[in-house]
Amino acid sequence: MARVALFPGSFDPMTNGHVDVLRVALELADTVVLAIGIHPQKAPFFSVEERTAMLADIVASLEPPIRQRVSVMSFGGLLTDAARASGATVIVRGIRDSSDVDSELRMAAMNAVTAPEVHTVFVAASPMNRHISATLVRQITDMRGDPSAFVPPAVATRLAARGARIGR
Ligand code: PNS
Repeated sequence: MARVALFPGSFDPMTNGHVDVLRVALELADTVVLAIGIHPQKAPFFSVEERTAMLADIVASLEPPIRQRVSVMSFGGLLTDAARASGATVIVRGIRDSSDVDSELRMAAMNAVTAPEVHTVFVAASPMNRHISATLVRQITDMRGDPSAFVPPAVATRLAARGARIGR
C-alpha cells in the first residue's frame, strides 16, 4: 500500500528549510501532502489562496519524477482529521533547534492520542537552511531587506511584490 505523509505548516511563506524537509519526506513516503493550516484568529502575511499558489509553483519547480508525488491542500480543523482525510499514516514536522522540540513533542503526543495510527516524524533541514524561519523572512520583507537567500524563487517574487528588495 502506498505510504502517504502529511507535511503540515503555516507556510507563511514556505522557506528553503521547508523545501529540505519536503525532500526528506519524499524519501520516507510514496506521496506527500503539503497541508496549509488555517488559523481563524491569526491574520496571515499571505492569504491561504496566495500560499496555495506559491506551494503549487514550488511543487511545479521540483524534478518531474518527484513533483508527481506531491499535492497541496489547506485545512481549518484538526491536523489529525486532515491526516486521516488524506489517508496519511505519517505527519512530518521540521525541527530547527532545541527551542522547537518541546512544543513539537507536546503536539505529537496530543495527536498520537487523537489518531494513534498516525505517527509524527521529526526532520531537520540541511545545516545550510536549518536556521531559516518564516517569521524572520516576513520581518526582512517588512523592513525592505532582501530575503531571497532563504526562500524558493516563487516565494521571492511574491515577497518582492510586498516590498522586499530582491537583488536591488
Ligand atoms: O508552521 P506552523 O505554524 O508551526 O504550523 C502549525 C500547524 C498548522 C501544524 C498547527 O497549527 C496545527 O496543527 N494546527 C491544527 C490544529 C490542531 O490540530 N490542533 C491540535 C494539535 S495538538
